[in-house]
Order: sequence, then C-alpha cells, then structure tokens
Amino acid sequence: MAKIAPSILSADFGCLAKQLAACEAAGADWIHVDVMDGHFVPNITVGPLIVEAARRATRLPLDVHLMIAAPDRYVEAFVSAGADRITVHQEACPHLHRVVEQVRMLGASPGVALNPATPAEVLADILPYVDLVLIMTVNPGFGGQAYIPTSSAKVRRARELVGHIPSDARVELEVDGGIDARVAHEVVDAGATVLVAGSSVFRHPDGIAAAIAELRRAVMRAPNAR
Ligand code: DX5
Ligand code: ZN
Repeated sequence: MAKIAPSILSADFGCLAKQLAACEAAGADWIHVDVMDGHFVPNITVGPLIVEAARRATRLPLDVHLMIAAPDRYVEAFVSAGADRITVHQEACPHLHRVVEQVRMLGASPGVALNPATPAEVLADILPYVDLVLIMTVNPGFGGQAYIPTSSAKVRRARELVGHIPSDARVELEVDGGIDARVAHEVVDAGATVLVAGSSVFRHPDGIAAAIAELRRAVMRAPNAR
C-alpha cells in the first residue's frame, strides 16, 4: 500500500505540533519537510530548527527534502535535528555519490530527487546507493502548483529502472507536487510508493483527517496498488 507523506510546507506553522498530531492520528505514514534556500529554488523555507521542532512533535519518520545548493554542508545539521530520511537533488550535486554516502554514514536514509526536466535515466548509477527516488511532479519551489501530466510516464520509467535493481523492494519511489486524490490513483498505478501531499492535505476544506482519508481511498482504488 502506498504511503502518504503530508508536506508541512502548506501547514500552519503557528500550530505545527497540533497539525502534526492531526496527521499522525489520521494515519499519515511520514512527514515531509521541504527545505529551500533561495538559490537552488527561488523560495526560502525552513532549516534544522523546524526539523527539531517537528521531531519533538511526532514519532512519524521525518522525510527531509533538501532543495538547496551544496547540501553536503548541511546534511549533518539535519541528521542531528532528527531527520530520518534525507533526499538531495541530482541537479544540486556534482558529487552525488559522495553526498549520498555522507547521508548514510551519518545514520540517515539517503534519497535522490529529480526535477521535471531531468530524465529518469540519470538514476542508473546512483540507484544501488539510495533508498528512495523522488520524482518532482511540479517544478520545485512552491506548494499549490498543478501536477505536470507527463510525470506519470516518467514515474513508469523510474519504476522500470528501480525494478532492475535486485533488491528493488527497498527503494521507495516518491512523487512530490500537485498530488491530490484525483492524481493519486494515476501515480500509484505508474509505480509510486510514497505520495507527498501539501495543499491537498493542509488546505482541504474538511480538514486534515478528511484529506488523508480521501487520499487513502484513492490509493486503494489504484489498479496497481502496492
Ligand atoms: C515543492 C515541494 C513539495 C510541495 C508539495 O517544491 O517539494 O513538497 O510542498 O506541495 P503541493 O502538494 O501543494 O504541490
Ligand atoms: Zn518536497
């Protein structure tokens, strides 16, 4: 069954602990934290301090998505703050393998993220070293953008590549951007195993619990539900 990872980018930071508790009670699997630096992406969001606050507020795994330049400089701070998983962008790392190994050495689980225009095929040589592949289904930088429809075909190609790794079950395939109950079914069918959802969870008119239940139902209806 695909996992649901609410992205706190769209949460109310004035009552973050309460919102995380609501996610946990509603059966969210992971909490996704979007870190932006104003360089790799145009927006600036949060740093290790918020990861530390989230760590105190929930027992759920913290899935930290670094949309920052030179992530190697900050990996240690995020692991110390309580990140369970750290995903870096292929486009931000000329020495991707080194950063991935650094994350693992520090005791966290490494992932690699690809922007919409980066072909899935660049994954081939890094796949044996990561536990997660994140396919951006919008251009990174902001919540609330529309899902890019060609992403589903890319998720399928990533699924094929991940499937070629002998121990493929350990590699999660995560989608991030514009995911709501309408596209959830399509991306799970294409092979996604983790769905990041920001606005569709935190801006749902009926609240967080209803939003997560709606996503869960959509995931269960997917023909290829894993
Ligand atoms: C986009 C972020 C996403 C974003 C998803 O740069 O990486 O995690 O928060 O938000 P929605 O679900 O609103 O597209
Ligand atoms: Zn993200």
